[in-house]
Amino acid sequence: MTESGNDVFTVKVDKEPCIAKAQIVSRLLAKSIGLSDVGSCCVVTSVSELTDNLVFHTQKGGTLTMIAIKQNGRAGIEIIAEDEGPGIPDLKHAMQDGFSTNHGLGGGLPGVKRLMDEFYITSEVGTGTRIVTRKWQQCR
Ligand SMILES: Nc1ncnc2c1ncn2[C@@H]1O[C@H](COP(=O)(O)OP(=O)(O)OP(=O)(O)O)[C@@H](O)[C@H]1O
Ligand SMILES: [Mg+2]
Repeated sequence: MTESGNDVFTVKVDKEPCIAKAQIVSRLLAKSIGLSDVGSCCVVTSVSELTDNLVFHTQKGGTLTMIAIKQNGRAGIEIIAEDEGPGIPDLKHAMQDGFSTNHGLGGGLPGVKRLMDEFYITSEVGTGTRIVTRKWQQCR
């Protein structure tokens, strides 16, 4: 794990145990910036889904970056999942409940979108996928 300054943590995610590591770091960061128990749970669940995708939908894995952010005096956490994997050919399908190319439940990406306050995804076949998602203090 690399720590850049006090509030940016990057975890390389290329095998299953990395998922637990990212979960632990995200829980600590979410609590430290003052997210509620429910908010922290949303963050940790989202981190689990995003890291699971890095492990199971790419060959080499990717990185999960967690950043403590602030906007108009409100604290939040930004999660960035990035990989240089196969990319997602049809984002609309991938964001639908029940869509999976891996015999999964297909609930990961749509679930993260629901749990977090902001969600942005870009993906290009052959280049990779980048997801940026944020959770704000006392937003829900
Ligand atoms: N990082 C990624 N790289 C390439 N494809 C991805 C990536 N993340 C998701 N996908 C594609 O998007 C689909 C939907 O992802 P989602 O997380 O919603 O479901 P799943 O991983 O298949 O199942 P679940 O998360 O419920 O176990 C995946 O089946 C896969 O085809
Ligand atoms: Mg998934």
